[in-house]
Amino acid sequence: MKTYKAAVVGCGRMGGFIDNEVIGAPGFYPPYSHGGGFYESERTDLVACSDFREDLMDAFGEKYGVPSARQYTDFREMVARQNPDIVSVATHVERHAEVVIGLAEAGVKAIYCEKGLAASLGEANAMAEACNRSGAILNMGAQRRYHPGFRKMKEIIDSGELGPVQNLVMTYSAGLFDHGCHVVDLLTYLIGDPHAVWVQGHAPASDAVREGDVYSDDPGGDGVMLFDNGVTAYLLHTSRYEYQVNCERGAVGTFNDTLGFFMRKGDPRSFEEVPFPEFAPSSPTVNLIDDLARALDTGEPPSGGMESARHGVEIMVAILESHIQAGKRIEMPLRESPLHMRRADRGPWRKGERWREPKLAV
Ligand SMILES: NC(=O)c1ccc[n+]([C@@H]2O[C@H](COP(=O)([O-])OP(=O)(O)OC[C@H]3O[C@@H](n4cnc5c(N)ncnc54)[C@H](O)[C@@H]3O)[C@@H](O)[C@H]2O)c1
Repeated sequence: MKTYKAAVVGCGRMGGFIDNEVIGAPGFYPPYSHGGGFYESERTDLVACSDFREDLMDAFGEKYGVPSARQYTDFREMVARQNPDIVSVATHVERHAEVVIGLAEAGVKAIYCEKGLAASLGEANAMAEACNRSGAILNMGAQRRYHPGFRKMKEIIDSGELGPVQNLVMTYSAGLFDHGCHVVDLLTYLIGDPHAVWVQGHAPASDAVREGDVYSDDPGGDGVMLFDNGVTAYLLHTSRYEYQVNCERGAVGTFNDTLGFFMRKGDPRSFEEVPFPEFAPSSPTVNLIDDLARALDTGEPPSGGMESARHGVEIMVAILESHIQAGKRIEMPLRESPLHMRRADRGPWRKGERWREPKLAV
């Protein structure tokens, strides 16, 4: 089996240290961070890292065995000198486009980009064009697609034992760009990554953070969407993550995100609770990385891929567009939109910036 050279851009929480925040939490299968995933995967050798903050790179290097000679404040220099096959991007969403486009233009073959993919549809389209031009493949870090419980759920849906899918009811908390993106990715994954035909949105919480085309914070919002396979999905902005896939002869879903997988079977009058099949725990982060390695080995597309990630941004922006237009149904594809998120504390980097300090030790 070939081993691929890997590198991380952004050595903060998700890049290097988030395992220290979630260690022992139920439903999390470590390693969770990018550094931990590359370190653990048998398919990768973590050779380099990049961050503006040298103190973070020191700690990252010590944890994952990346010597200071292979730590770079400029990710382009890192790529030019170390020639990694797979590079992950764990910067904030407002900074994903610049880095992903830079990596594709520098000839990196595989990119693992954190969720949300981008802070606007224009950025997502430009990222997709850059990857298409260079031939780079990409998986977005929406972990549920690579989580063994949701993989089992998709297996059940695909087997047809519950009959055709009728609709999905999916809730999420916080904002669309940083958090809703997880659930948009999950819902499209579970039904085979179809394209949306139309989207309608209701996003009252977004009004307080919008000035013209700019959101100064991550906007929440509800959406209903019809996909080209005939399935309808309802995405609801709440204070928690819960999912239910309704099929003609049953349902599968979870309570409290990854904690309570459930399954119901039977005809509409006698639905009974049946045990959700067991599944072996495995790290979604390692699964995502191994999926990129498999795609590099075989030339087959990765399980996530740039188009599903880009289309997720298109759906979220359509929810916001629809809300601004008093709930008008937005016909897809939505080719462009001026709406974008720019949080003041996550704009161009300033020396000394600290947003949420990574927890360097347990
Ligand atoms: N998948 C998940 O469950 C999950 C969980 C937490 C965070 N995230 C995602 O991870 C990303 C990062 O969030 P975080 O909380 O880890 O942030 P963070 O602030 O801890 O880390 C980001 C790091 O990126 C560095 N950086 C920014 N631009 C850079 C550049 N051009 N070159 C090199 N380094 C650069 C910053 O200096 C910082 O250290 C976000 O997209 C967030 O949504 C995902």
